[in-house]
Amino acid sequence: MICISPSILSADFSKLGDEVLKVKEAGAEFLHIDVMDGLFVPNISFGAPVFKCIRNLTDMVFDVHLMINEPIRYIDDFVNAGADIITVHYEAAKDVRGTLEYIKSKGVRASLSIKPDTPSSVLDQFYDICDMMLIMTVEPGFGGQKLIDKTLENIKHAYILREKTKSGFLIEADGGINAENARLVRAAGADVLVAGSSVFKAADYKKAVDALRG
Ligand code: DX5
Ligand code: ZN
Repeated sequence: MICISPSILSADFSKLGDEVLKVKEAGAEFLHIDVMDGLFVPNISFGAPVFKCIRNLTDMVFDVHLMINEPIRYIDDFVNAGADIITVHYEAAKDVRGTLEYIKSKGVRASLSIKPDTPSSVLDQFYDICDMMLIMTVEPGFGGQKLIDKTLENIKHAYILREKTKSGFLIEADGGINAENARLVRAAGADVLVAGSSVFKAADYKKAVDALRG
């Protein structure tokens, strides 16, 4: 089953609550929450207090993508704000396994992400602990970029890893996904498609979500 995770980075923040309700109504199962620290990526977005405000509006899966250095410092804050899945970056943590273990110890699903140029083989050592792997299909930092074609290979790598190890982790793809390329992303093996601009900049959110799902 394909799940759609609209990224609120592209939402109209002046009416964030309404935007969330609209994507829920459009059929999206997840809500993608991009947290950026201005250090790991050259952009700053928002922190836990912001999404805590929308937590009680919906039972959607809160899919929190931490683009921050040493994310272990803030896991408690994101757990308390109501995260269901927390993704950390391989490139951002000294102790990747320890960070994933800490997330799981809080009863939250743990996910690991790689940037486009990180060899996908680094994922191999974490198949046993990940509830999800998030494959970046653009350089993290900004919404509205174009999908980098070669990252489809990283999705395939995660898919083959899951088959080989008979694991159950989800595979999420994030960045530049739209109605035109979603089929390729799904075919590469992704189960969860993040979509910022292709949903929130669309005139009809339901049509946009349906088109991604195929
Ligand atoms: C990029 C973020 C993405 C991004 C997706 O750093 O992780 O989630 O906001 O937005 P689009 O779909 O516009 O690329
Ligand atoms: Zn993201």
